[in-house]
Amino acid sequence: MEHKNLIDLEYMTTDELQQTIRLAKVIKSRPDVYKHACDGKIMATLFYEPSTRTQMSFQAAMLRLGGKTIGFDNPMNSSVAKGENIKDTITIISSYSDIIAMRHPSEGSAKAASLFSSVPLINCGDGGHFHPTQTLTDVCTLSFEKGRLDNLKIGLCGDLLNGRTVHSLIKTMSHFKNNSFVLISTKELSVPQYIKDIMDNAGCSYEEKDNLKDAISELDVLYMTRIQRERFSSDEEYQKQKGVFVLDKEKLSLAKEDLIILHPLPRVDEIAIEVDDDPRACYFKQAEYGMYGRMALIVLLLRPEGAFTFNTPDPIIKKNSKCSNEKCITNDPQQFYLPKNTYLKNGKEYCDYCDGLIKSL
Ligand code: CP
Repeated sequence: MEHKNLIDLEYMTTDELQQTIRLAKVIKSRPDVYKHACDGKIMATLFYEPSTRTQMSFQAAMLRLGGKTIGFDNPMNSSVAKGENIKDTITIISSYSDIIAMRHPSEGSAKAASLFSSVPLINCGDGGHFHPTQTLTDVCTLSFEKGRLDNLKIGLCGDLLNGRTVHSLIKTMSHFKNNSFVLISTKELSVPQYIKDIMDNAGCSYEEKDNLKDAISELDVLYMTRIQRERFSSDEEYQKQKGVFVLDKEKLSLAKEDLIILHPLPRVDEIAIEVDDDPRACYFKQAEYGMYGRMALIVLLLRPEGAFTFNTPDPIIKKNSKCSNEKCITNDPQQFYLPKNTYLKNGKEYCDYCDGLIKSL
């Protein structure tokens, strides 16, 4: 039977996304009904990069559904340390488990892994590319807390360049009516062009600002993000960006009463601790809601065929192509065996793994 993978939330239609949110709501209110939904099933959690929430909420989700978990959270304790490539690891682990949740530092690694998995594979973050279950967490939170996914003015603040959760959230929310975005960042950490193209193509309005205080009063949602130290080429570059945007009580005093503050977490210093007690601070609830969203996703992915359509464009294979993104999995010499899959969109050719532009050789 063909199985479905979740590489990007774009793989779901908006109806399927709403179905998942509805199920998450039901599971949250009646967890007892679902406590045997995954009896006899095994989830493998393969975390090549550190994680608290994503890894443990998937493990908690599977355990709460009656299933079991295996996996690693430090690849250096697995045969990855001996040089095993993604193909071999995934081929083996998918014969041990019924579903895989994977985080890996290379962009496009989730798509690459899915080519070799015989069971559904969930992308838990592929470098700075996508983090779809964080977006599922975010939209569950918007739905639970705001009661709608449309007509929202959403401010995104911080590291909008490297923040994969930012990219996934903009992509998803641009499908719903009358959403607009305020992008608050330094020039160096502004959203990549392809995300701007997505907003333009969806007809969503957006503006870029470099001051949180000036932007906060008009927002329905403020999505704060951490400056992603691990994505910088030098500590000097990171230090220039650190601490530029901090949400504190003073700035929050300018915001609407029904603003909600989200953050994918972990937080470093971009939200002052004093904000935690404000009723508008939803980031801890958000992390809990993520577990219900992941429970719903597991139930739907393990359902017999027909649960999701997960339409994706058919890739074309170009033998002599090179992705322009240095962080792409196809540029990792250890993953040399990957077919050079690309796709065409609006007259441009993109990498099927990381969505980077293709250079013809
Ligand atoms: N939000 C998120 O992905 O958190 P972790 O890195 O702790 O999984």
